[in-house]
Amino acid sequence: MPKKIKLGVLASGSGTNLQAILESCASGRIDAEVKIVISDVPGAKALERAKKFNVPAAIHDRKIYSSKKEYESAIVKDLKAHEVDLICLAGYMRIVGKDFLAAFPNRVINIHPALLPSFPGLEAQKQALEYGVKMSGCTVHFIDEMTDHGPIILQAAVPVLKNDTVESLQQRILKEEHRIYSEAIQLYAEGKLRVEGRKVKIL
Ligand code: GRF
Repeated sequence: MPKKIKLGVLASGSGTNLQAILESCASGRIDAEVKIVISDVPGAKALERAKKFNVPAAIHDRKIYSSKKEYESAIVKDLKAHEVDLICLAGYMRIVGKDFLAAFPNRVINIHPALLPSFPGLEAQKQALEYGVKMSGCTVHFIDEMTDHGPIILQAAVPVLKNDTVESLQQRILKEEHRIYSEAIQLYAEGKLRVEGRKVKIL
């Protein structure tokens, strides 16, 4: 049996991507296990989802730390204690700082609900609708110091339909997010991702 990589997942909200990752791990679709889920939001639904899968969940409320540096060093400590190989941001609503990144070089990935480099930042689906694009989608990428910017691993496109609302487009994109996030993790687990400058080469 292939060795499983250890994941740490950071989530601030509902956690449907976390759920998809947990299910992929449980079904053996990916050679990975979630060792810890961390949320910055007490009461986030993601924490409940972790509990249902018997995965340790930790809350690090930014408000109780005097600086971003302290807050992130507590998170890094937790992730290191669980010996994670890869960190997945799944609806984590904060910008990851320098020290965090330096602790896990090329080992933090994110999912964004648009085809980057289009529509980075908040409310990507609303941005896409307002711009009038006919296709949107989602992107899994390594993170760097800029928001929604690092080397792209996988993307999936979905059509924007005539009567779409933010909600309907969001749901169509989420379905693809759930699929490609696990695919990207599996590529990482198989050692098939090589970061070469701005680009990711899939071996
Ligand atoms: C997703 O659309 C993800 O791309 C974005 O935040 C949303 C999180 O959704 N970064 P969920 O918490 O995984 O349901």
